[in-house]
Amino acid sequence: MTSNIESVVTENRIFPPSEAVMKSATISGRAAYDALCAEADRDYSGYWARLAREHLSWKQPFTVSLDESKAPFYQWFSDGKLNVSYNCLDRNVEAGLGDKVAIIFEADGGDVTKVTYRELLGRVAKFANALKAQGVKKSDRVLIYMPMSIEGVVAMQACARIGAIHSVVFGGFSAKSLQERIQDAGASYVITADEQCRGGKNIPLKPAVDEGIALGGCESIRSVIVYQRTGGACTMVPGRDHWWHDLTASQPDICEPEWVEAEHPLFLLYTSGSTGKPKGVQHSSGGYLLHAILTMKWTFDIKPNDVFWCTADIGWVTGHTYITYGPLACGATEIVFEGVPSFPDAGRFWKTIQKHRVSIFYTAPTAIRSLIKSGENSPKTHPRNYDLTSLRLLGSVGEPINPEAWMWYYNNVGGARCPIMDTFWQTETGGHMITPLPGVTPLVPGSCTLPFPGIQAAIVDETGNDVEWGKGGFLVVKKPWPSMIRTIYGDPERFVKSYFPADFSGQLYLAGDGAMRDAKTGYFTIMGRIDDVLNVSGHRMGTMEIESALVANPMVAEAAVVGRPDDMTGEAICAFVVLKQARPTDVEATRIANELRNWVAKEIGPIAKPKDIRFGENLPKTRSGKIMRRLLRSLAKNETITQDVSTLENPGILDQLKQNA
Ligand code: WTA
Repeated sequence: MTSNIESVVTENRIFPPSEAVMKSATISGRAAYDALCAEADRDYSGYWARLAREHLSWKQPFTVSLDESKAPFYQWFSDGKLNVSYNCLDRNVEAGLGDKVAIIFEADGGDVTKVTYRELLGRVAKFANALKAQGVKKSDRVLIYMPMSIEGVVAMQACARIGAIHSVVFGGFSAKSLQERIQDAGASYVITADEQCRGGKNIPLKPAVDEGIALGGCESIRSVIVYQRTGGACTMVPGRDHWWHDLTASQPDICEPEWVEAEHPLFLLYTSGSTGKPKGVQHSSGGYLLHAILTMKWTFDIKPNDVFWCTADIGWVTGHTYITYGPLACGATEIVFEGVPSFPDAGRFWKTIQKHRVSIFYTAPTAIRSLIKSGENSPKTHPRNYDLTSLRLLGSVGEPINPEAWMWYYNNVGGARCPIMDTFWQTETGGHMITPLPGVTPLVPGSCTLPFPGIQAAIVDETGNDVEWGKGGFLVVKKPWPSMIRTIYGDPERFVKSYFPADFSGQLYLAGDGAMRDAKTGYFTIMGRIDDVLNVSGHRMGTMEIESALVANPMVAEAAVVGRPDDMTGEAICAFVVLKQARPTDVEATRIANELRNWVAKEIGPIAKPKDIRFGENLPKTRSGKIMRRLLRSLAKNETITQDVSTLENPGILDQLKQNA
């Protein structure tokens, strides 16, 4: 098998769409793709306006498509009014899908709960009424810290229904991260659960909310609503904390949606940047939902009988667009999965696909790579032991997929029958930006291929000029698009500086990734971040954030964090640390390294724990005192140092920093 994969990869094979896929795909054939691109070229704002009229239900139709008067704070469809939850639920029920299953919830332990569109609408309405009774108003920020659950989706949809702005925080973030996000967003409500279930264990969630609020500066919080997932021990603060079931018990299951302007913020989602604290990426209602729907229809080619499964967590943007909003807005049946891919064994994904006859499966390269390894080590969990014939389309997201993993996914999961959509996008872009379309694009393993119709992706040099195909450069988007980030909450200047920098004349959206187009096909390949953002298992982490967490520890004098390639997680976090005390001995070093890892887990979350920690008496610096990060990156990779170290003040420390604690 392996040798076969390698020969395929070196042949640079191309996988054109099959006749069968082309026959059924919504966008079929290159001519159809080209026609959409040409329409966008001819009349850019008219193209998006047409799609927004066709795919969204408006309470008040818009007359303006793109408004550039406050660029780069672009606005779309701004005089139109709609409600996102209405578009996801009511309109499907009105269209006769009331009895269709909306969500199949697959619990950690394997229990299954199904809700229809009518039931989901009722639950969202009840919870929306409960929120209103608690005093939640349009534009209030509501922080959601929930396990994967139907209730997590209900909480988000209920906010959308009443015009409240949700800010979901992934359950793997710490109390401190919660506090920072509550403060930054000025959140007045928190929705959480007693515990979450992962890999057969119950892990408390609510205590992190209590601790986060207790850290101080969270006076904006008016109440905390707790969904009872497990019934485990849970302390409730009288007057502040309320059980979800108590608040909803007597609420009616009808709630008139709040009709909001298309530009009304739907949510904030905090993500890492190259400097400072995580930034609250703000998304709109109309433009965001439009792209969620279009990408569901064109990239995933969603059809009425599909069973769609996106394995992301609702704490990340992928879970927002491809669990909470996109699939429901398209009236699809989707899986919401609580567990982990390795429990009860590494066959869990394949078993779940078989059990629910999943037809579209969307996951991350890290998950695929770890399952390849498990399948080798314990052949019983290999996909070949499961009936995966229900699958017709696969997707990949979050990080580059290496051609070997692509081929394995294609052959072993997709039975060499299902096209793989390698979707490039970001928290800031709201939905897919560069991606194949199943009925259009010949696939090349490891390439996200071509821009989604209408998206003006390009590669430029440092002066903002296009580079030739075949040459690397900065990935940019040349024109605003409906689902783009609107601002960084509370910091419009940082928004402009981060995404529309003056070096690029303030006109181009800078993605922060390096990329290259194939000299012949023009296909895009993403080469990774060009800033100090790491991508560990598809999770975005800022090196500065981890450094700040480390230096906040009383033992640490100085710290520098870089990424290094890792076979399994894509990138791994490598920290170089100078302690206030003398450089530790080997035995001491292991203990202190573990202490620091746990410290970072408390400051940010377990996902930010450095894999490697190396101690030195100092960090390699130039005579002017600048940390030589490139040198650290080479050290992290265990490369022989070829850089000029003559400017280095203290070359002796390089040997110290070669060793992992
Ligand atoms: C990376 C996740 C290569 C990229 C949706 C981007 C990818 C960052 C791909 C955004 C892909 C995402 N191929 N790289 N298909 N998809 N990335 O905000 O570096 O969590 O800038 O959004 O992930 O991560 P974020």
